[in-house]
Amino acid sequence: MARSALFEPMQIRGLSLNNRIVIAPMCQYSAEDGCMNEWHLIHLGKLALSGAALLTIEATAVVPEGRITYADLGLWNDQTHRAMSLTLESIRRWSDIPIGIQLSHAGRKASTEVPWKGGGQFSPADALGWQTFAPSSIAYSAGMPEPRSLDKEGLKRVRDAFVSASARAAKMGIDFVQLHAAHGYLLHQFLSPLTNHRTDEYGGSLKNRMRFPLEVFDAVRSAFPAERPVSARVSATDWIEGGWDIEQTLAFAHELEGRGCDIIHVSSGGLHPDQKIAVGPGYQVPFARAVKSVVRIPVVAVGLITGFDQAEAIVGTGDADMVALARAILFDPNWPWHAAAHLGGKVRVPKQYRRSAPSRFKDLFEAE
Ligand SMILES: Cc1cc2nc3c(=O)[nH]c(=O)nc-3n(C[C@H](O)[C@H](O)[C@H](O)COP(=O)(O)O)c2cc1C
Repeated sequence: MARSALFEPMQIRGLSLNNRIVIAPMCQYSAEDGCMNEWHLIHLGKLALSGAALLTIEATAVVPEGRITYADLGLWNDQTHRAMSLTLESIRRWSDIPIGIQLSHAGRKASTEVPWKGGGQFSPADALGWQTFAPSSIAYSAGMPEPRSLDKEGLKRVRDAFVSASARAAKMGIDFVQLHAAHGYLLHQFLSPLTNHRTDEYGGSLKNRMRFPLEVFDAVRSAFPAERPVSARVSATDWIEGGWDIEQTLAFAHELEGRGCDIIHVSSGGLHPDQKIAVGPGYQVPFARAVKSVVRIPVVAVGLITGFDQAEAIVGTGDADMVALARAILFDPNWPWHAAAHLGGKVRVPKQYRRSAPSRFKDLFEAE
């Protein structure tokens, strides 16, 4: 059988990857005061045994008001740092999967209820809510609480918080940082003309709208060790006329690459309630392919990538360098094992599980 492209190793700065399968960040809405707990150990621990190349910790707020919900993870003080360190130490005893963290600020989409309780937005007067901040004071939709526009001091506080969280991540041995500039959260709100109506140097032209996200990127890049990658997750389009679109994304990707970004992870949408998304298998792959045509750094495709041959084709044809899975790997945490069995690749499995492969797959597991 020809070698599987999905199971080709690759190197990004000092990080060696066994294959091209990335576990996408997935909020668990189960943290307490921003702290990881036993749920995160179970959830991340399970995914750490999956054989994927990279495990990305869910959107982690750099300041408390940057959480989507009161149950989001955070990394803004010694308490959140200690809880995360303890969880990662436990996982590290038993798995060497490279672990990254998505650092985030939810901007105007913060202060909401957890999804399984409806996900509605709280006003600052609600016991579980708080004042939100954004580039401009434009609510997510009519009747929802208005965010406060960030002033110069507010911008500095956010930038410094990204730096401090990156330094904490570095200290606890996290292998890469992903800047969340997608899905309608704060950095995406700066990029899109629909949410950024500023008249200072951070609004107006594309160059001005990119300024704050790029400043944050530069600050994070300098705070994180040079041998470890920094990635950015972008929404390639708002799926709305007059919004952020693929042409602007290409310009942003080009700027990121020039500043030392190592991986661009291409998603879409999330900014505006009127978005009209054409959803279907691999629906965001064309955006990844477009970004890949203008950068030399690795590009990750995501979104309804569920099939082994589908994933193999995306990497094999060069549409993207890696594929990220969210729902498919929650549904089947051993997806990479099954993909390797199907495609003739090899995966790393814990020694405790080596007896599990059916005899027809006796060569499936990598030698220790
Ligand atoms: C439970 C869940 C939580 C998610 N949380 C995040 C998150 O923390 N950060 C993020 O950028 N995307 C988040 N997403 C979006 C996924 O990372 C992914 O982009 C999306 O689900 C599409 O990929 P899929 O079709 O493989 O699920 C989440 C998705 C799910 C299902």
